[in-house]
Amino acid sequence: MAQEVLLEVKDLHVHFPTADGLVKAVDGLNFKVLRGETFGIVGESGSGKSVTNLTALGLIKRETAQISGEILFKGQDLLKLNSEELRKVRGKELAMIFQDPFACLHPFYRVGDQLVEAILCHEKMPKKQAAERATDLLASVGIPHPKERFRDYPHQYSGGMRQRAMIAMALVHNPDLLIADEPTTALDVTVQAQIIELIEKVKTEFNIGVILITHDLGVIADVAQRVLVMYAGRGAEMGTIDEVFKSPLHPYTWGLLESIPRVDSKGTRLVPIEGSPPSLINKPAGCAFHPRCPHRFEKCDKEIPAMQDRGGGHPEACYLSIEDKKRIWAEREARRTKAAS
Ligand SMILES: Nc1ncnc2c1ncn2[C@@H]1O[C@H](COP(=O)(O)OP(=O)(O)O)[C@@H](O)[C@H]1O
Ligand SMILES: [Mg+2]
Repeated sequence: MAQEVLLEVKDLHVHFPTADGLVKAVDGLNFKVLRGETFGIVGESGSGKSVTNLTALGLIKRETAQISGEILFKGQDLLKLNSEELRKVRGKELAMIFQDPFACLHPFYRVGDQLVEAILCHEKMPKKQAAERATDLLASVGIPHPKERFRDYPHQYSGGMRQRAMIAMALVHNPDLLIADEPTTALDVTVQAQIIELIEKVKTEFNIGVILITHDLGVIADVAQRVLVMYAGRGAEMGTIDEVFKSPLHPYTWGLLESIPRVDSKGTRLVPIEGSPPSLINKPAGCAFHPRCPHRFEKCDKEIPAMQDRGGGHPEACYLSIEDKKRIWAEREARRTKAAS
């Protein structure tokens, strides 16, 4: 049976007029997220990951941005909803967690009371019942002694516990889609792993879709089923984890993969991608990556390459022929493993 499409982003553009010019943060982006999957979004800082998802949540103010395209959530275009309608969707069917738990938790109120408040905000029920539900939620996100911890203030929780409480908050209304934007960046490594594991558990238990945004490719490889690589507000490459991590087709993805340690590559030299991300006001003509691309040729600075399957089995946005892509990636891999031995 085909999996339900929860979210479909079609030709999304989010441009911010500023004193320096138009910042093209998202510039023609397309992807789908299915129920039951973790969909990873990776890309250097500034590639438009957060803006994309904040736009879906209606958190980019119309007065500050020119937004076009479609963001279909369960078939309904979120970009056509007014703020009242959006508020009903957000926090209910569509929930988000952030790097900073205080984006969702108020420091002055007890964690339990905030959950109760959130429950009662969308649903009518006796307060006592809401409190029981809140306690159950704390238990299900792995807060020990939930009855006692219910009465704590957020600052009495550890960083990891606060992250768990924020996830509980996101789950209050059984969302269909959970967007997690760099949820573990501020945590230390062991706690990071626990939070990622929790997000996975929640995904399976509640049968929801998850968008996991992170610059940590290792995390994506561990938990996501599909991944979108973003560069300068557009998709560079998209496919299953195996497709993108084992047979990457875009030179930007090659660069990303060579810049991080890999399980199979103890001792290999890490090579950062040369140059820096482009200005989003004056983007390079053609493929925005071409000034940093060691494999560019004359076509690359002429027209923006569309994101499409050029025979490699998954969509990518690079003009090199499939034969060239396969050959170059194999050569780069050979060089990398040779350097290790
Ligand atoms: N309100 C805004 N006004 C102008 N530029 C913005 C605004 N919000 C985000 N941007 C710019 O949009 C680009 C993409 O940002 P973001 O989506 O946060 O990147 P990422 O999450 O991938 O690191 C950045 O260059 C950022 O400076
Ligand atoms: Mg971000």
